[in-house]
Amino acid sequence: MKIGRFRKLRNLDWLGSVWRITTVNPFVKYFDVKKQKLMETHIAPFPEELALRLITLYSKRRDYVLDPFCGSGTTNYVALSLKRKTIGYDLEQKYIDMARQRCGGRGMFICKGSENMKEVYSNSMQLCVTSPPYLNLRKYSNNPKNIGNHKDPYPALKKVFKEVYRVLKPRGHFCLNVAGAPDGKGNCHRFPFDMIYLCQEIGFRFKTTIIWDKGITLREWNIENNKPNENHEYVWVMEK
Ligand SMILES: C[S@@+](CC[C@H](N)C(=O)[O-])C[C@H]1O[C@@H](n2cnc3c(N)ncnc32)[C@H](O)[C@@H]1O
Repeated sequence: MKIGRFRKLRNLDWLGSVWRITTVNPFVKYFDVKKQKLMETHIAPFPEELALRLITLYSKRRDYVLDPFCGSGTTNYVALSLKRKTIGYDLEQKYIDMARQRCGGRGMFICKGSENMKEVYSNSMQLCVTSPPYLNLRKYSNNPKNIGNHKDPYPALKKVFKEVYRVLKPRGHFCLNVAGAPDGKGNCHRFPFDMIYLCQEIGFRFKTTIIWDKGITLREWNIENNKPNENHEYVWVMEK
């Protein structure tokens, strides 16, 4: 049995398809010792551990890792700490500033919509790890161009994913983190599953699903009504 490569993994649980990782509380501010003040954080970050596992599994040292919706730069920060090179896009200057500061000036950050990533060569990225904005789940800004504010985010997301496809190397991976969303009528939106179809239309091969188990957060409502609370998100793993 070839175990050399897996010795580098912290835990063989990574090779299972359900990952229990505590979620990040977006409302916790952090104290910047240099500036002596509490700093704002992003409103929808994913945990470093999620990015760490995906980057370790799907890339190697010196590879390029992209996040077209980099927010506070979690993917980029972890990529750098694992000795990868990294590029991040975000429409909002405040998030680009956050990501730059977090990465200590390393990595390349571009403040513009990732529907067009002409700064990046075709077939140059090994991996893309991202979580998209959608369906007004979070208010990132008042900018109508922000996909989080689009009534119908599908066309813009398709443009971004087409660009991801272009810049990925053949056999490079695209890890897309999406969560279930209420549709406003008491039902679940099929958005996460539509993303699989959308990526397949572009040409991606759908390789595997990772369920990110965020741990149980029950509200009184769940207990009183005997109704489960959704405590997971998906990571769709696609290949070019
Ligand atoms: C779910 S958040 C990403 C959070 C990130 N994973 C983190 O850990 O901080 C999605 C981000 O996409 C950005 N965004 C929205 N529309 C965009 C666009 N057209 N191009 C690039 N970024 C965009 C939002 O401003 C937001 O920061």
